[in-house]
This record gives sequence, structure tokens and C-alpha cells, in this order.
Amino acid sequence: MQKPYVFITRALPESVIAPYRKQLNIEMWPEEEKPVPREVLLEKSAQVDGLLTMLTDDIDQELLKQTNTLNIVANLAVGYDNIDITYAEEKQVVVTNTPDVLTDTTADLTFGLLMAAARRIVEASEFVKRGEWGPWSPLLLAGSDIHHKNIGIVGMGRIGEAVAKRAKGFDMNILYHNRSRNKETEEKLEASFTEFHELIEQSDFVVSMVPLTPETHHMFDQAAFQRMKSEAIFINASRGAVVDEQSLYEALVNNEIAGAGLDVFEKEPIGADHPLLQLNQVVCLPHIGSATRETRINMMELCLDNICRFFNGKNVLTPVK
Ligand code: DGY
Repeated sequence: MQKPYVFITRALPESVIAPYRKQLNIEMWPEEEKPVPREVLLEKSAQVDGLLTMLTDDIDQELLKQTNTLNIVANLAVGYDNIDITYAEEKQVVVTNTPDVLTDTTADLTFGLLMAAARRIVEASEFVKRGEWGPWSPLLLAGSDIHHKNIGIVGMGRIGEAVAKRAKGFDMNILYHNRSRNKETEEKLEASFTEFHELIEQSDFVVSMVPLTPETHHMFDQAAFQRMKSEAIFINASRGAVVDEQSLYEALVNNEIAGAGLDVFEKEPIGADHPLLQLNQVVCLPHIGSATRETRINMMELCLDNICRFFNGKNVLTPVK
């Protein structure tokens, strides 16, 4: 029997891929840093049985319409806003993502971003590297406390919960907002379910962990930033487009909020001339929430396990529903 033909849209380590070559006929886009060009992706997806995709690949109607061979798309991310899920379902293409394996790693980075923004860690490091460190002075690079402050988590999924767990270790008071209440989480983490407007008014740290959907697009807009405390620090480690970046910029420049920590942007990558990069009170990262060697390898293996299971007639481990 012929092995299923699978195209991987980015160069992944051969040491991870090799064991799967016994079961799959794997072809890989050779570049690690640059996404596969659209025309190559369209051409390949019309020929292959399975795709292993990155969040930089648009798996949209155009692509799905022109393939009759494609059975499964395994996305190397927990988010799947790059895929037209409804149309994939219509075309009976199975879609999988990578939840769980990246939860703690992404929560670590999110909390690190919060700490960096609150305690001005990046700014302080750059200050030392520029040779500007003079005599000790009482308010030199003074930031804001984290412990015993209010953290408001918007989107209490797996990663939101893991962020709350870290916040509890810092004796923070945890507020959360989510589509549905989770009584178990509330008890376990002493977290209080709070309406969105109340949460953003009461939080010292507003942390966005919501997936990008039509409902969450630009949910952090001018009105939302205006409701926040002037000492509030806004953290986003979910998807850039949940924030209206122009409104965030204005809120920061007008001191309506105190700072921001951003791992994601509406249009990635951003250039060095992006307005938010010009502000000292903003810490910016290049979408590295789940970027540890261990976790990225676990994510790759989960994608490949899903593809193998599918072609072996077994249930995939992490279907997108
Ligand atoms: C995800 O998994 O959705 C992350 O944003 C990619 O690391």
C-alpha cells in the first residue's frame, strides 16, 4: 500500500521527522524561517493527502476548494484562526491543533512578559548595556508591584488557567472573564468571575488570553482602554487582532494606561518603525509564547501523531471541533 503523502510547510528538524518517514511519504518546504510561498502551498495542497501547517499559512476557501486529495490539516499551534474551520468541515477535511503540550510554556512566557513590563526589566537591561548606570538613586527605574495586585484574565481556557496558577503563587487577586463560568477553577484558584467591563476597570494587570474570533476582534478598543486604571498594564499573548493597536498606542501616549507587554501583533512581523516600539513602557516580543525547544518538539510530534493516527483509521488526539 502507498504511504500517505504529507507536505510540511516549513523545515522541521530531521531528527523529529525521521521516525515518521516509515509510515508517511513526507515532503518538506526547505526553509525554516520563511513561509512557503502561496503558489507552492496551493500546488502542494492539491496533490497531498495531509498538510502540516504553520499559523502563517492561510488555509482558506480558495485552497480548500481546489483540492480533492486533502484529508487532514495538522496545525502547529493551539490557535487556528489561519484556517477556515467551517469550510474545512464542509469539505470533510479534519483539522487538528496542539493544545495542552504548550500550556505551561505559554503561561510561563505570559507571566514573564507581565513581570518584564511591571518591573521594567528590558528597559533596565538596555540601560545597563548602554553604559548609563550611574550612582544608585531612590527611584531609578522604579516599576510597579506585582504581588497582591489584581490580575484580570480575559479568556480562561487552559493557558488562562495556567497564568492564574502562576498569579496565585504571587498572592495576586484573580479576576477572570470567559464565555462560560468554571466553578471548579474558581474554587481551585480563588478566582472571581467578573463581567468584562468590571474586570478591565478593576485590574492592575489586564491579560488577554482570548482566541481570535469575529466576536473578539478588536475587543480591546478605545473604550476598553479608557475604562482601565491609569496604572494598568495590558498584556497580550493571544492574538494581535483582538487589540485595536492605534487605540492602545493612544492610551499609552496619553497615560490612560501605564504600560503593555505584547507577544503578538495584528500584522506580523512588525517592523522597527512600528509606533508601539517607540514607547519605553512597552515590552515587545516576536510571538514566542510556546517557543521552547522542548515544547516546539512536542508540538511537532503531536501534529505527526495526529496525521499517522488519521491514516491508520484511529481517532486523532486533538481535533478542532
Ligand atoms: C499558538 O500555538 O497558537 C501560538 O500562538 C503559537 O506559538
